[in-house]
Amino acid sequence: MRMEWPGLKEAVASCVDCPLHAKRNKTVFGVGDENADWLFVGEGPGADEDAQGEPFVGQAGKLLDSMLAAINLKRGKNVYIANVIKCRPPGNRNPAPGEALACEPYLHRQIELIQPRLIVALGKVAVSNLLATDASIASLRGRLHQYRGIPLIVTYHPAYLLRSLPDKAKAWADLCFAVKAMGDLQSGKNGSI
Ligand code: URA
Repeated sequence: MRMEWPGLKEAVASCVDCPLHAKRNKTVFGVGDENADWLFVGEGPGADEDAQGEPFVGQAGKLLDSMLAAINLKRGKNVYIANVIKCRPPGNRNPAPGEALACEPYLHRQIELIQPRLIVALGKVAVSNLLATDASIASLRGRLHQYRGIPLIVTYHPAYLLRSLPDKAKAWADLCFAVKAMGDLQSGKNGSI
């Protein structure tokens, strides 16, 4: 896929490559600074996102916005937010492997166009799709991984954090680790990857 932004947005908006298109209200392409250093990747649209066509606008999105604010970031300012899946899976179930596979070229092309310095994968679905692993978030946190040559860190999904307060402290540690990694990447001290 070699599309530029306008073609890519159009392709997602009219996509019928998997069964999820049948029940969607809106596709959820992604939002933010198209030259961002930071890319946050979630799972897929929920009901609010499906209604509004923007990622992370419901309860989990409020928490994500607070997480960004805690490290002095803001949606749209040097930050891009996207999902693995562009259409809402009915009942917010996890995307089926075939659905994620059909959608993968879109996220991949977004990443190629953005060229972020760092990807933060939010939760198991993002992690398993971007890193092609079944390993737990717990076992993958705290170190730099790579998605096609781009540094990637792993943390919990904000929707999960809303249900699991004890892991909020771990997510905070992950954000601090991400800030440190970004500092190193910006100053060229990326010898560890
Ligand atoms: N959860 C996600 O993973 N993505 C969204 O856009 C909203 C909730």
